[in-house]
Amino acid sequence: MNDNSPPVCNYEGSDYQRSFWQEGGRAYEDAVEAVALKRLLPSSGEFMLEVGAGAGRNTPRYKNFKKVALLDYSRSQLEQARDRLGDDVRYLYVAADVYHLPFVSGLFDGATMIRTLHHMADPLLALSQIAEVLRPKAFFILEFANKRNMKSILRYHLRKQSWSPYSYEPVEFAALNFDFHPKAIRNYLKANGFSIIQQLTVSHLRVGILKKHVPFRLLVALDALLQRTGGLIQLSPSVFSLCRLEEEKSLPADGESVFKCPTCQTPIPGLGHDLRCSGCGAVWSFQDGIYDFRQK
Ligand SMILES: C[S@@+](CC[C@H](N)C(=O)[O-])C[C@H]1O[C@@H](n2cnc3c(N)ncnc32)[C@H](O)[C@@H]1O
Repeated sequence: MNDNSPPVCNYEGSDYQRSFWQEGGRAYEDAVEAVALKRLLPSSGEFMLEVGAGAGRNTPRYKNFKKVALLDYSRSQLEQARDRLGDDVRYLYVAADVYHLPFVSGLFDGATMIRTLHHMADPLLALSQIAEVLRPKAFFILEFANKRNMKSILRYHLRKQSWSPYSYEPVEFAALNFDFHPKAIRNYLKANGFSIIQQLTVSHLRVGILKKHVPFRLLVALDALLQRTGGLIQLSPSVFSLCRLEEEKSLPADGESVFKCPTCQTPIPGLGHDLRCSGCGAVWSFQDGIYDFRQK
């Protein structure tokens, strides 16, 4: 790790889960994401990585996997996830930076990243780290916030918004909050060896007046219908892409180590206690069920 590492949007101590999801009127967004995930997730799997797991809102949706590693930079978000999901041996809680993943190469047969690329100042680096820890042919479900959505197109043409929804560069609409162009995302994925199998457009009806007046179940059913248009064009604020890692970048894990040192890359055997790296001597803590690989 070094000082050139991209900045992290730090959720430590944030009440995001309560204020945004529980009290923020986001039942529609949560429900339509559940529909998209159900459509895209494989029916079974061994070990899945959830990047930017936060408070584990989506984790119960990965029930078909034997094990799930919840990775998040914020320890307090992971504590909330643990409170929600419990000490189940299926779950591994890991506080770490996606730019410095602490897992051995080729460990996982799948990964998801939902509402998290949104915070990446260096999306290419984040995706390359994820590709590294996946097995060849692993699946990857990536959600991204789409800058070329109907609302931003309208606002642009009404001259209420200065940036163009059509240009490929990301727009940082608030500090460390980025919306991306679908074509740029396709390029980032391709550059990291991923092919896109299916795309669903999600949250088409994320408009206050609709959420207020259209019955909830009807709104979700309409979005479920519209999601399929994502294979043709992406004009919704959120896009889910099901990808497959085509390039044989990673060697399959040897089965002995789950973790590697994020500083010197040496595999670190063992689980269930503080981990000492035999390469550089760094000690990574394990406290209250959470491994902590963040740079101090
Ligand atoms: C908007 S929340 C989404 C949480 C969850 N995926 C969901 O949809 O409910 C974004 C999450 O990404 C995490 N995050 C942001 N930057 C990160 C980084 N560099 N490495 C790991 N996690 C990061 C934050 O801590 C936060 O929990």
